[in-house]
Amino acid sequence: MKVATAVRAVVCLSVWLSVCQVSGFHLPPKMNRTIQNLLQHYKIPPQERFNGKPVFSKEPLTGRLETKRVFMGGVLETYEKLFSKMLRQLPTPSPQTAGNEDHPASDVSAAQGAAGSDTEVKEGLGDLLEMIRNLRKHSYQDEEKVLQGLHSLKTIQLDNTVVQSKALWELPWLYEEASTLSHMQMQRKRRRRQARRSKSHQRA
Ligand SMILES: *[C@@H]1O[C@H](CO)[C@@H](O)[C@H](O)[C@H]1NC(C)=O
Repeated sequence: MKVATAVRAVVCLSVWLSVCQVSGFHLPPKMNRTIQNLLQHYKIPPQERFNGKPVFSKEPLTGRLETKRVFMGGVLETYEKLFSKMLRQLPTPSPQTAGNEDHPASDVSAAQGAAGSDTEVKEGLGDLLEMIRNLRKHSYQDEEKVLQGLHSLKTIQLDNTVVQSKALWELPWLYEEASTLSHMQMQRKRRRRQARRSKSHQRA
């Protein structure tokens, strides 16, 4: 009897734990420590940090899963560029690259002083960069393709006459495709509404 109860408790616990794992992801403590340490180094006054204008808008994250994933793919891409830039901005101790025109190496390290050595900062940024790269590589490849497509739309030469003529030629197919997608979306919404209505009928 007692054994059965204990077994049941263990089963419950492991089910509960696995549900926790699928329902939400928790930041690894080591990553949080790295971030907290870097924040000691990259200090800004609280009134600047909490000025109501975050760097990354949360609005695109209220949409559907596909939309959110594409946006998050772009966010990860931006973080990768950001950390690469922050790494390049660190003063390099090796003699041939020490300092640059605006900030001699000695000034920079004197200003950064107490909060973590440059080596620690470099390691921390390197760790974060690697985590971002892994996440992109392992689960955001399809979204990356969409983003590349969007980036290349931005580079189309709208005042080139060859481009203009070719685009006209391609319009019939693209317009059909875009209209089909719009039609499919409306049908999906209608179906969802009907499903909801029949469910409430059943309950009544
Ligand atoms: C990260 O660490 C800070 C400082 O120790 C703590 O206040 C915060 O709750 C932690 N955040 C997460 C998501 O673990």
